[in-house]
Amino acid sequence: MDSYSLGYANIALVKYWGKKSKDPVLPFNPNISLRLDNLLSKTKIEPSLTDEDEFYINDEKQSQEEVEKITKFIAKFTPVEREKICIKSYNTVPTAAGLSSSSSGTMALVLACNEYFKLNKTAEELVEISKEGSGSSCRSFYRLAAWLEDGSVEELSCDLDFGMMVLVVNEDRKKISSRIAMERCVQTSTTFDAWVEKAKEDFVAMKIALENADFEKIGAITEENALAMHATTTTSTPSFTFLTDESYRAMEIVKTLRKKGYRCYFTMDAGPNVKVLYLKEDQEKIYEEISKLWQKKIILCME
Ligand code: ADP
Ligand code: DP6
Repeated sequence: MDSYSLGYANIALVKYWGKKSKDPVLPFNPNISLRLDNLLSKTKIEPSLTDEDEFYINDEKQSQEEVEKITKFIAKFTPVEREKICIKSYNTVPTAAGLSSSSSGTMALVLACNEYFKLNKTAEELVEISKEGSGSSCRSFYRLAAWLEDGSVEELSCDLDFGMMVLVVNEDRKKISSRIAMERCVQTSTTFDAWVEKAKEDFVAMKIALENADFEKIGAITEENALAMHATTTTSTPSFTFLTDESYRAMEIVKTLRKKGYRCYFTMDAGPNVKVLYLKEDQEKIYEEISKLWQKKIILCME
């Protein structure tokens, strides 16, 4: 029987941007995310028909570098002596475009390994394992998640019914991975310390705003935090940015809608695509208004 394990993408409202420690993986600042149930990865593992480990995403054979990255990760929690395997994964989320495929892919992979190797790990253990593959993936196990500086992951609750859509600027694979980009910012950004301080404050304020179901505050912190994260890329050496003119145009559209009274806010991750946060009850009218101004692709992330 074909049985796939599912992993979900998540988008941070307060970003994780920088590792305080790589082993174990610990973030510099506590961060908070929202799971996107429509953007996912499904993965299954089969015995390899060759004498090599193999890894496919959307039926495309992945590079040797990708195979090495994935096998090094699964070696941390699977039997030392094992047969060669073939990992088959399908992403509905665009791969490596700043839409969190690393989170959905890693979550699906960890669950698929648990299944295939009959590891019988508890849910908490799977969350722990997941972050060693990709930090942000530990948050995908919960609708709203906080990943703290000591490595623990907490489920948060909020009475609001959130929605998110992506204004797609570019779905192509980015030139610099999140991992390498954040490492460069940690090592060289002249504003990195200020970013960490701000993100810590944003985390505290966001938790309160979520508890109070204060959407205006949640949105304002989300935007500010994303911009502060992106500022660290331009203050790095060599300096770089994930954002393009089209990303800025998308942000302006969100601001224009807000001026017209629509409740919506933007955020961006390690890629040019702009995500719009709103309340589910407003989805139809926001989609209608945004479509008039954004003729390119729009992805609805939650049903
Ligand atoms: P994104 O913005 O999409 O998260 P990243 O650069 O952070 O991009 O991560 C992309 C990496 O995530 C890929 O190079 C691959 O290593 C991993 N990844 C993406 N999809 C999958 C998947 N389905 N299964 C396992 N790993 C995946
Ligand atoms: C910008 O979790 O992909 O999306 O731990 O190195 O795999 P690694 O990084 P990753 O970084 C996510 C960065 C971000 C912000 C966020 O999701 O919090």
